[in-house]
Parts: sequence; C-alpha cells; structure tokens
Amino acid sequence: MKTVRLALEELFRQAVLTLEPGFSDWQRLFFQSTADEKFGDYQTNFAMAASKVFKKAPRAVAEQLVAALPENKLVDKVEIAGPGFINIFLNNGYAADLVKSSFTEKWDFSHINTDGTVVIDYSSPNIAKPMHVGHLRTTIIGDSLKRIMRFLGYQVIADNHLGDWGTQFGKLIVGWHRWLDKESFEKDPISELERIYIAFGEAAGQDPELDELARIELKKVQDGDPENLALWKKFVDITLSECKRIYEYLGIDFDTYYGESFYHPLMPDVIRELEERKIAVESEGALVVFFDEKSNIPPCIVRKKDGAFLYATSDLATIKFKHDNYKMNKAVYVTDDRQALHFRQIFTIAGLLGWDMEFVHVPFGVMSFQGEILKTRAGNTIKLKDLFREAENKGLAVVEEKNPSLPDDEKRKIAKAVGIGALKYSDLSQNRTSNIDFSWEKALSFDGNTAPYLQYSYARVQSIKRNAKEKGFEVDRSADLILESGIERSIALSILKFPEAVEKSAELYRPNFIADHIFDLAQKFSSFYNSTPILKAELPLLKSRLLLAEAVAGVIKTGLDLLGIDVVERM
Ligand code: ARG
Repeated sequence: MKTVRLALEELFRQAVLTLEPGFSDWQRLFFQSTADEKFGDYQTNFAMAASKVFKKAPRAVAEQLVAALPENKLVDKVEIAGPGFINIFLNNGYAADLVKSSFTEKWDFSHINTDGTVVIDYSSPNIAKPMHVGHLRTTIIGDSLKRIMRFLGYQVIADNHLGDWGTQFGKLIVGWHRWLDKESFEKDPISELERIYIAFGEAAGQDPELDELARIELKKVQDGDPENLALWKKFVDITLSECKRIYEYLGIDFDTYYGESFYHPLMPDVIRELEERKIAVESEGALVVFFDEKSNIPPCIVRKKDGAFLYATSDLATIKFKHDNYKMNKAVYVTDDRQALHFRQIFTIAGLLGWDMEFVHVPFGVMSFQGEILKTRAGNTIKLKDLFREAENKGLAVVEEKNPSLPDDEKRKIAKAVGIGALKYSDLSQNRTSNIDFSWEKALSFDGNTAPYLQYSYARVQSIKRNAKEKGFEVDRSADLILESGIERSIALSILKFPEAVEKSAELYRPNFIADHIFDLAQKFSSFYNSTPILKAELPLLKSRLLLAEAVAGVIKTGLDLLGIDVVERM
C-alpha cells in the first residue's frame, strides 16, 4: 500500500513530465507533511527548487503543474502560496479508504534501499563486570532501531559485541586466586565475581604491582594457557547467562554474540595489512595510524609496545569480518558519545583500507537517576535487577490504583508492562544525544508524554470495544469510515502519516519521532473521545467511530512495539 507521500509523488511526476518530458531530477520532488492544517495536509517546494529547469518564475511553474495534474482521487484541492509553495488538501474518501486498507495491507517502503545486510552492534557489555544502567540505553535504543529497520524491510543482524577479552579477566584471575570465597561462589557466582572484581580495584589502589600481575594473567589467557583459558570460559559463561536472563526479561534478543574474543584470531591479519600498506607505522615501539592533519583526528595505536592489541584493533578485525562475510548495507554502532572519537578513528582506517561500507555511530548521552550518575568503577551502581524490581513495584501501584479488582496474575503482567515500558519510553522518547535524568514520577505520569499514557490510550480503545460488544456491535472493517468532523479527519491523517515518522526515525536513528507521533495521535484521540459520542452516536457514525478507534489503537500498538514496549488490554 502506497504511503500518501509516495502516491502524491507519483501523481505529480505525471504532471511534471507533461510539462518537461526529459525531467529527471526527482529528488527535488518531495512532499512535506504540514504542521498547520491551514496549509493543507502536505506541501511541496518543488516549483521553487526546480524553477530553473522550467525557465519560469516559481509561481508560474506551480500554476502550470497544478493545471497539468491528471484526474485523480487523492487530491481535493490545491493551493499555491507565497513564492510558489504547493499546498495539497487530501480527499476524505481517499484518506478513509487508505486508513481501512491499513488494517490488512503493509505499507510500501520499496523506495528505500534495503539491499544487503544491516548489522547493529548494541548492548555489548564488558562481561565479567556487572552489567549496569550504563548499558541500559544502548540495549534499549539498539533494540528499537532493530525493530524499526526490520519494519522498513531491512535485513538486520543484531550483534552483541561482548567485551569478553579485556583487562578485567586478568584482574579477575588474580582476584580468584587470592580472594575467592568458594561457598559464596557456589551460592551466587555472579555476585562473588563482582565482589572479587571490586576487591581487586581496592587492593590495586594500595599495591600497584597487582596491575602488572593482572596483565600477565591476561596475556596468558590470550596466549592460550589452558588453566587461564578455562577460568576465562567460566567467567564468560556465568556472566553471559546472567546477561541473557536480563535480555529475555526485557524482551530483547540478538542474532550473534560474537565477542571480542571471536575476532582475536583475525587481528594479526589486520595488523599485517595495515603495515604492508603503510597505513600504520612504528612509533616508539608501538604501531600507530596517523591521520591527515586536516581531519583533526588524533593518532590511533593498533598494537602496543608489548605486542598487545587494543580496542581499536579488535574493532578493525570486526569490520573486516563483516566486510568479508556479509553483503553489507550499513554497520551501525550504538554506544555512549564518549566513544565518538574511537569510531571516527576506526571508520577512517576502514576507509583507508578500502573496506567500503556505510558506517554509522549512534551516540547517546548519559542517563542519571534523580541527579545521580552511576559508574561501575566505584562499585556503587544501581543493579539492573533492583531497577527492574522497582519498575514492577511502581507499575503495580498504578494498577492497584486504577483497577484494584483485576485478578492477581493480570495485575502482575500489567505491572511489568507499565513499569518496564515507562523505563524504556523515557529513554526512547527523548532526543538520544541529550542526557536524561530519569525519575519515576515523570516516567509514570498520566498527563505527559509517557508509556503509561499511551498504554492507557490503547487500553481505553479495548474498553470501548468491550462496551460496544455488550451493545451488540463489533468492529466492522468493511464499515464506512466517515471523516465527518475536523478532529476525525485529523486523526485519520495522523494515522496515515505514521509510516513517515518511522522512516524519519530510521533515517536519523532517532526512535523519538515515533514516540512523538503516537503521543500526538493519542492526544488527538483523547480530545475526540472527550468531545464526541462514540457508542451513543447514531448508526453509521457509531460504526465509523468504532472503526477509527480501532485504527488508532493499531497505530499506537505498532508504534509501541517498534519501541519494544508492550500494550495491555486493560489498565
Ligand atoms: N564493550 C564496550 C563497552 O561496554 C562497547 C562495545 C561497542 N561496540 C564496538 N564494536 N566497539 O563500552
């Protein structure tokens, strides 16, 4: 099913071609959805953008185009405004039919180049360190981007690039031999590993030699020492299974868990290539890539003096692997913005190596909790488990207040959807580059842009449907959709503009455009609900309004699903 924008483009192409048969600069023909209904539903500046080709003033171009428009069912009225804007007023019947088709047909996104594979690298915790709230944003944003790109037809591989080869393992092995409490480890392995890790940090503060010991133990892991490798494997398995429990709880999954260790064997080849092609040179014993002065990128070490590889080396090996093994459309990395320079460096090096693909770093800001920023090193992090428990408790309080008579298991289900939804949404509804200060009060508010508000809007439609059923009416998808009032029309248009919000979210890697869109739709629906009788309306209108409500619920559900958030049937 063609989006409105696509349908308008096709229609205007015909008009353009009757005036200028050789015209080919179609990028200039673009329809913008208008914010103010005064200017119609869509607007294009094509007449201004392409006036040179027509060798006429923009307004004259606009007039001729409008006169040349073929007969059609889409457009009711066209106005020319200002220097040559063309304002389009859509036909109600066309809009109504399209809303109805959207129940059964999929939107056509064939104009997007989805050829090849998109690999999204997200979450990617450093394992054997506790996974903490810092990894929450990448996990939530990455999962949403995956859902959005799949919705648009991309082939997406969700890759969890585990930090499973770093210095923490050396520290843990030293700690394991010195401070392990076997009994605690049997009971709760992950907590004991965390305790050892923190103990190492404290002891190393007093005794700098410990760091050297840790470095030696790590080197032994990397050189394949069987005893250390077995410990490494144990640590990886323990923490990975804990991570997987968290992902499952959040409804998030991955296609590959290729951690840094997976790429380790590929690194020497990358180094050789960098050396042979003189992209990297020896400098004070290390191997370093120096960048063009104009680029303003500081040098990047790819091999240390002692022969050890670095984070950048591992990422280069990863890119080589992706380049050689997938037909790539793009490689997307979701991490906090402190890694921006690292990605600039490795993307530039990959370019120098001629590994041609589109690279995107999707950075995000810091998340704090009521003003507190949480770090791992100090050991005073909020554990995700505790955060989730709190989320459910807060969600439960909401249900207890709104609907205390529901059965307990339904209450629990709603509590989780609301609590976790609130958490995810307060991240995804904001411009991701902003720092976020999370508060439960804001996240759970029913009169703001929040998940519970949207879940409530969805549940309200379900309740209308239940009431309708009692009166003997069910949603009838073949009923006439009558866009009688301004608000009904505006709701229908918002439903039709939803796919544009999804496209924009994908283009800019910003799920908040979807959040904004469904929030706006939910607000429109709320004012419609408060001002217009639905079940008390006369017959053709009753069925039409029921159908419109159903379409609204469908878009809210799809939108929330793209954000990784569940809906509930009642609240
Ligand atoms: N493990 C890193 C961290 O926790 C993130 C890895 C991101 N992905 C990558 N390919 N570098 O900060």
